Amino acid sequence: MRLFTAGPVACFPEVLEAMASQMFSHRSREYQELHMETVDLLMDFLETSQTVLLFPSSGTGFMESSIRCGVSPKGKVLVTIIGSFGKRYAEVVETNGRTSLRLEFELGSPVDPESLKEALDEHQDVEAVTITYNETSTGVLNPLPELAKIVKKYDKLLFVDAVSAMGAADIKVDAWGIDMVFSSSQKAFGVPPGLAFAAVSDRLLEVSDKMPDKGWYFDLNLYKKFQDEKKSTPSTPPIPQIMGLNVVLKKIREMGKYNWLKMYSDRAEKIRSGVERLGLSILARKGFESPTITVVFAPEGCSGLDIYNRMREKGFELAKGYGKLRDATFRIGHMGHITEEDINDMFNALEEVIKELKRPG
Ligand SMILES: Cc1ncc(COP(=O)(O)O)c(C=O)c1O
Repeated sequence: MRLFTAGPVACFPEVLEAMASQMFSHRSREYQELHMETVDLLMDFLETSQTVLLFPSSGTGFMESSIRCGVSPKGKVLVTIIGSFGKRYAEVVETNGRTSLRLEFELGSPVDPESLKEALDEHQDVEAVTITYNETSTGVLNPLPELAKIVKKYDKLLFVDAVSAMGAADIKVDAWGIDMVFSSSQKAFGVPPGLAFAAVSDRLLEVSDKMPDKGWYFDLNLYKKFQDEKKSTPSTPPIPQIMGLNVVLKKIREMGKYNWLKMYSDRAEKIRSGVERLGLSILARKGFESPTITVVFAPEGCSGLDIYNRMREKGFELAKGYGKLRDATFRIGHMGHITEEDINDMFNALEEVIKELKRPG
């Protein structure tokens, strides 16, 4: 099966090779070297001189951590929502006993900067703002630098879910003033699932240091202390995933960050032009299309799910429409190991599938 999924995605061959290594203890010198080198490579990639941490969880672990460590027990968070993963952030806020103020936008649209300003004017008591950089359910990339500037003007903590953005869209942590930006291994870095990583600001670490009842497993200060003192994590980390990520980050350093990001933007453009050539339309508003996933309206008379199922029969796994868009759309993921030939073959199959589904009888 050739994968055009939303994650886990097809892993880069170098990653799979690196992961087939014998284990060592996470208290050994070998691990310490691997851990610190991976952290340094991520710091370079994310353009930060503050802190990068690795969690033995999927990306949502950092979502939980940002709220437990960064927002007081009865505090308020402004949650911007442009799709399903923005809603998940609101649920994480609420299930941790904090209050979420939901600022929601139409599916296919990004966060509107003016509305963000108005919400912050109206709710001066929020402690933090959350932004989904790339909304995987709608294929929309938010204008993060512009939104971050607004959040910083109001002097709020800024938490960014970059699960499906990091590794494909640019992130400059220090210059943009981000307090936490996190991602997962199984997306644009093309590594199997099980590892999460985040850049964390000094400011957030200070807030977190004084936060009561933040739990243990996702305590940012505990991870920072272990990293500083033991060059490791408090509990056992997914060592193979860290080996895989390390190899990808070295490949990115060799290619140059912007050449790597261009590989992703060129691939996304190729996918979008293929969709348009088939006469199909894309959900994302023009100018805000995702570099990692394209959400496509199913043509009249077909459901997104039919297209997904027929494509599987032809050897291609796309992604189903998500949430409210489950029937009306299907998604083409473009993360991980995908060749030009894969893309051409996928579009040939998609053209056939649409013809078959439209054929009367
Ligand atoms: C934007 C976004 N946020 C959060 C998540 C959840 O990430 P994880 O499954 O790694 O916890 C996903 C997963 O698809 C996502 O796409």
